[in-house]
Order: sequence, then C-alpha cells, then structure tokens
Amino acid sequence: MCCQDQQYIYTNNRAEKQHSEQIQLNFKMPNTNSEKGFTGINTSTRLAGLLGHPVGHSVSPYLQNFLAEKYGINMAYLGFDIAEGKLEDAVKGGLAMNAIGFNVTVPYKKDVMEYLAGIDPVAEKIGAVNTLKPEADGFRGYNTDMPGFGRALDHAGIDVKERCVVMIGAGGAANAVLCSLLEKGAKNILLLNRTVEKAEALAERFRSDYPDSRIFTAPLTGNADNTAKDSAESKPYLKSMDDISADKWIAIQCTSVGMSPKTDEAPINDDGFYERLDAAFDIIFNPEETMFLKKAREHGAKVSNGLGMLMFQGIRSFEIWNSLDVSDDIADELLSGMREEVKKNTVKKAVSRSEDLVL
Ligand code: ATR
Repeated sequence: MCCQDQQYIYTNNRAEKQHSEQIQLNFKMPNTNSEKGFTGINTSTRLAGLLGHPVGHSVSPYLQNFLAEKYGINMAYLGFDIAEGKLEDAVKGGLAMNAIGFNVTVPYKKDVMEYLAGIDPVAEKIGAVNTLKPEADGFRGYNTDMPGFGRALDHAGIDVKERCVVMIGAGGAANAVLCSLLEKGAKNILLLNRTVEKAEALAERFRSDYPDSRIFTAPLTGNADNTAKDSAESKPYLKSMDDISADKWIAIQCTSVGMSPKTDEAPINDDGFYERLDAAFDIIFNPEETMFLKKAREHGAKVSNGLGMLMFQGIRSFEIWNSLDVSDDIADELLSGMREEVKKNTVKKAVSRSEDLVL
C-alpha cells in the first residue's frame, strides 16, 4: 500500500505560474521573547528554512517559528530563494551546517529528489518531496501534504470512512487529496476534471493499491466559465453520482477556480450538485469562503476551507524534524494566528491555496 507511513506529496506547477511576480507578504513573526521557549538567536540556534524560487510569499516562517517558540526548539526558519542551478549547493550547504531541516517548494519539489540520501516510499511513489530531514548520510525526503490534508479533514469533523466522495480537479494537489481519502477508507470516489483524461490517469495510479475502494471518473462540465448548457448531457457527473449511490456525498474542491481575485466563480454552479452534499472542503483559503463553499453551506453542508491543510502539512514537517507531536490546542492557536495573518494580507492576490505557501 502506498500511503503506509503517512508521508505524502503532490506536484504543483500552479504556484510557480502564480508567483511569477514575487510578492512579499510581511507576515509578522511570533514573539521571540517568550519565557517558554525560543529566546533569540544564539550560537546553538539551528537553521531551518524553505528552499524555493520565489519564497517571498510563504507563511512558513510564521508557522514554523511559532511552533519553535511554543515547543522551546532553538531553531530559526528562514526563506531561501535558490537561483536556478544552485539547488544541489543549497542542499549540501544545509547538511554541512547541521540544519534541522528544510521545506522545499516550487520549482524544486521533484528536482530535490536527486540530491537526497533517502526518500520516503510514499513521496517516492508520488514523485515529489516537500520536507527534508538530515540523517547520518544525507537528507531524507518526505512529503507532508497527504497527512496534512487528512488531519485537516479530521479537524473539520469530516469523516470520509465508508463514504462517497466527489473530488473536483485532478492536478498536482489532487494526488495528496486522493491518497488521503483512500487511506481513510472512502468507499466510492468520483474524480471530476475538465480534462477527464487527467482524472483517469490519476485514478489509474492508485486503483491497484486500494482494491477496497472504487475510483470513478467523469468530465467536469458546467464549470466556472459557464460554457456548458444546463442539460443532463452537460452534467455527466450528476448521472455518475446517481449511478454510484443515492447517499449524500462529501465534495473536495481541488481546482484553482474561485481563488482570489476571481472569487465569484465556482467549478460547478448548479444546485442539483450541491443538494447532494452533506460536507464540502475547498483547498483554497483565500477567500475564506469560496463560492463553492458558500453554495455548499447554503445547501446545508458542513464546510471547511484549505487553511487547515496548509497548517497541518507544516505541523507535520515540524513534527518530523523534532520527533514530537503538536497538540490540538497549539494547532488551534496557530490556526487563529494564521487566519489573522492571511486576512491582513488578503488584498495581495497570490496567496490562495494551501500548496502555494509552504510547499
Ligand atoms: P495544482 O498543482 O495546484 O493542483 P494544476 O496541476 O495546474 O495545479 O491543476 C489545476 C486543476 O484545476 C486542474 O484540475 C485543472 O483542470 P485541467 O486538468 O482540465 O486543466 C483545474 N482547473 C483550472 N482552471 C479550471 C477551470 N476554469 N475550470 C475547471 N477546472 C479548472
């Protein structure tokens, strides 16, 4: 089984596209004078950081330094904008300097695998790494998106075990989401994508690993462009849902549709879809409530945005580096802080989806 030890990842090209213009968000650093922990940088402080290009948009320094302070870990997490061709030097340098660990973001999540001493089997299967932890002979690569998504679902009180789940989108982010749903025992999963061939390719990668779950695919129509007519033929996904089960469904939105600044769009517009849902999760967190979530909520579904996914994958990296478990209370406190930070920065257009920040 591919997801055994809960280290997951997905590939992501969208963040790169979105961040062609580097954006500095100026997230406030947590108080570094707490009696509880991190009391300032000194000669024992260990380096941690984000390797990517660009990295100015990342909330990771806020998140990781908050956790370091709370747990009394003497580490300092910085963003490192690594120029093309310098990734190997950066990885080797980090190891030589006894860094506590790194996150890796676009465009290096695949490239970095070449410079590691070992790769977690799940990250290997998915083909990308977002977390590096030093070991005796070099860094070991992990991915924390899959467990991050899974914990965000738990935190939102959405239980997919034995349930029917419709996933919208089959891009890079969908890998971790699908794997997590399978690990959590979803019974029927319907993958909808504008380009149905990509949904089928994604389904095919996981089917044999999870024979107890059924993965279906169907084209996504009636999308945000409103190009599709409102007819039965234009909504093959509704027919698929009816054919698979008359039960209520859980929907996970993994496309970029509805992300700030195009907040009036949803990947699916018709009420017939939302009426079938009792829970909905959108991996977008800016806006706080997407049109997709608004429609789902108005039809009575329990809803959650993607900020928890962002937070929990960062928490998982911190846990891997420090061999500890972050408590629910600290996670809640961190989530409130992140919510405030993101709110303050909502006018900045690029920060919108979980994988765009930390990974
Ligand atoms: P990421 O790695 O962040 O998931 P991606 O790999 O570029 O980004 O995937 C983007 C997802 O959003 C895809 O599922 C894409 O559909 P296609 O595979 O058909 O391109 C989906 N998407 C983007 N814009 C869309 C739109 N206007 N309507 C419907 N789906 C859209």
